[in-house]
Amino acid sequence: MTDTLPPTDSNLARAAEIIRAGGLVAFPTETVYGLGADAFNPSALAKIFAAKGRPTADPLIVHICEVNQLELVTGSVSDEAMSLVEEFWPGPLTLVLPRGEQVPDLITAGLGSVAVRLPDHPVALALLRKAGVPIAAPSANLFGHTSPTTAAHVLADLDGRVDLIIDGGATRVGVESTVLDMTSNPARILRHGGVSQERIEQVIGTVDTVERNYKPTEGLPSPGLLAKHYAPYTPMYFYKNDTDGQRMYNAIYLKDLGDSRLGAMVFDDEAERYEALGLWVYRLGSRFDHAAVASHIYNALRWFDDQKVDAIYCHGVDTAGIGRAINDRLLRAASQVVE
Ligand code: TXA
Ligand code: MG
Repeated sequence: MTDTLPPTDSNLARAAEIIRAGGLVAFPTETVYGLGADAFNPSALAKIFAAKGRPTADPLIVHICEVNQLELVTGSVSDEAMSLVEEFWPGPLTLVLPRGEQVPDLITAGLGSVAVRLPDHPVALALLRKAGVPIAAPSANLFGHTSPTTAAHVLADLDGRVDLIIDGGATRVGVESTVLDMTSNPARILRHGGVSQERIEQVIGTVDTVERNYKPTEGLPSPGLLAKHYAPYTPMYFYKNDTDGQRMYNAIYLKDLGDSRLGAMVFDDEAERYEALGLWVYRLGSRFDHAAVASHIYNALRWFDDQKVDAIYCHGVDTAGIGRAINDRLLRAASQVVE
């Protein structure tokens, strides 16, 4: 069984040693847990793909602990990119920049660009400093599965496939970083996440987005845009445009539930009426607090898997702020989308 250890100085030193020796360490960031390896060691990078069961066509994010490490991975940083760095780093914004020549192909999937971020988590930063090298890290889950927001989630997916897990508690943001492609003009959001589109546009003006879902056979603007992703093992119904949840409630209310076990993932003010129907209910927090909701969704999805419910029901939220990222993840996690 893989050790899960608290982030003491000596445990972080051991973790850094594993990274330098070409091993894998799972560690917390402010978004989700990452599965880290030395970004300049191709055989260590290959272990990331093997551990996750991830196709090598899906490129990795490089994590750095100081802005000046940018020059290790990218050739040039535009003024526009630098203004975003100044505003949002450390933080949940990943920038896709022109690739530096020395970056291994396994990181970029052979693309001409490289994704970089400077995380806002003391444990991630301490590990990066001690390791002394940039760390490539995808989310520390099996490919396609729900991303991990606790060390227990990592262990459930990757026990025996990772050399060490550093337990820094539950992550704060709870959805992944925003991925912003600075190599297209205007810049384009490839994945909504912890930094909202509105906040980015306050700094660099209007950006493009990629809203539609891609099937595995289509050419993707970013390999991470697969329609099915972040998914629980349990079938999941997503009422996409039903932000007040009324349609979803009516549909469940009219059902003959028999002895089926249904789960509802809902705002606090909706919980009681689903409990009254005998559903398994996960309370996401206040409908007015998107940040809290975002921090709960992956834990909720894994909880429903553990409860062995027959189906999960959830509905969309307002798109303001991090709401776009929440809707995006629920859409990709869902097996059935109700328009
Ligand atoms: O919050 C996060 O970003 C977490 C933590 C651990 O930092 N990491 C994460 O990594 O979510 P991953 O591998 O699960 O997602 C990386 C995303 C994928 O959608 C990938 O396709 C995209 O970034 N990506 C990476 N490099 C890219 C590139 N050069 N061009 C376009 N997309 C890229
Ligand atoms: Mg991932």
